[in-house]
Amino acid sequence: MHIYLIGFMGVGKTTIGKCLSRKLGLPFQDTDMLIEALTGLTVEEIFNTQGEAYFRQKEQEVIQNLAKGQSAVISTGGGLPCHFNNMLVLLHSGYVVYLNAKPAFLVSRLLASKKSRPLISGLNKDDLYTFVNERLSLREQYYLRANLIVDATAKSLNEVVKSVVLGYQHKLKKHGH
Ligand code: S3P
Repeated sequence: MHIYLIGFMGVGKTTIGKCLSRKLGLPFQDTDMLIEALTGLTVEEIFNTQGEAYFRQKEQEVIQNLAKGQSAVISTGGGLPCHFNNMLVLLHSGYVVYLNAKPAFLVSRLLASKKSRPLISGLNKDDLYTFVNERLSLREQYYLRANLIVDATAKSLNEVVKSVVLGYQHKLKKHGH
């Protein structure tokens, strides 16, 4: 069974995902990286030259294919669960973990890495805070449908990973694995 990591940009899905994959001996996949490999363009280039709608189509394609594949730890782009029926695809094919964080934490993380993120690359600190706050409150209705919600800010990386492993093992047992 897959483990899907969902949550806002900057929350640490990739770092936590890689750590989980090592711990559980499952392959690691990242939807942004797969889209880049598929198109031969960076996420930033896709947004700039093809537009967001095209990116969302690629996201849907990639997640539908991953869902059918062998069990993996899958880190998803921040907007993925909030488009089409993607959240249902995740819930039907794996254990979905929402990595949760407050806007202030996300903003401080994003300020360091916003250049490669087209949705926020042009924003100053105040605008970024407004953006995160608004976007997060729109997206939470999707994120909160996850099987497990983990506070990614209060805990160390090891503690976050441990909570996810415990929840995943519990789910596997319930399903008779
Ligand atoms: C996006 C998040 C990004 C990437 C794209 C759009 C979003 O992924 O998919 O820039 O809509 O929140 P990360 O959450 O991995 O940064």
